[in-house]
Amino acid sequence: MEHDDPAEALTELRERRLSALELLQVAAGSGLAAYAVWAVLLQPGFRRVPLRLQVPYIGASTQQVEHVISLLRGRPGKTVDLGSGDGRIVLAAHRCGLRPAVGYELNPWLVGLSRLHAWRAGCMHSVCYLREDLWKVSLRDCYNVSVFLAPSVLPFLEDKLQAELPTGARVVSGRFPLPTWQPVAVVGEGLDRVWAYDIQGDGPPLSSWEVPVKATPGSSSTSVLKAPISQAS
Ligand SMILES: C[S@@+](CC[C@H](N)C(=O)[O-])C[C@H]1O[C@@H](n2cnc3c(N)ncnc32)[C@H](O)[C@@H]1O
Repeated sequence: MEHDDPAEALTELRERRLSALELLQVAAGSGLAAYAVWAVLLQPGFRRVPLRLQVPYIGASTQQVEHVISLLRGRPGKTVDLGSGDGRIVLAAHRCGLRPAVGYELNPWLVGLSRLHAWRAGCMHSVCYLREDLWKVSLRDCYNVSVFLAPSVLPFLEDKLQAELPTGARVVSGRFPLPTWQPVAVVGEGLDRVWAYDIQGDGPPLSSWEVPVKATPGSSSTSVLKAPISQAS
């Protein structure tokens, strides 16, 4: 129906109910838009990664980053974030003196964003973001490893860390603990919680008693778990 009066046309539009076909079109359109975002922004780089190892991007919270740094501060050796996202953990690590600090990330958009953040922070030439598959990089020279990955991939990650990390290395895992290792420290609560694991000469930490220690400033709780170390297998 033709309307000369725009107010009248608007009222009619408001009162009109969407037909089933129109609803279907809206749903298909939204689905397509979501697929386009996924395919163009999130999927690049992951085509050769098996589905069960794919982890989506979620940035660590400010508290989570602080907890990661509190568990690594002052440690010597190379620091890496496996799946570095927009580079926030690598940048924070570099700023607190952990050097060299390297981020491995498959998504080229996120690698670009990380470099942009580093440039804006004046650290473009000091931090390093590499477009690499974390499952393929060697960790043999890494002494500080940060991960924030999905629980489903952590059993595979344990195997890789155990096979490659040198004695004395520390792994910090954000939001989700490594499934079978015993942490030497736990900081924070809920979604911001971070677990630390130390690699010792005779294998990864596997068990077993807890010694409470002073909480770090800003964290709601901290405990250190001292564990007799035993062989993983
Ligand atoms: C949950 S996000 C964590 C991002 C960042 N570490 C942080 O804490 O803010 C996981 C990241 O790992 C990346 N990722 C997943 N699988 C990867 C792989 N095989 N190689 C490199 N990066 C990967 C994803 O693209 C995503 O950016």
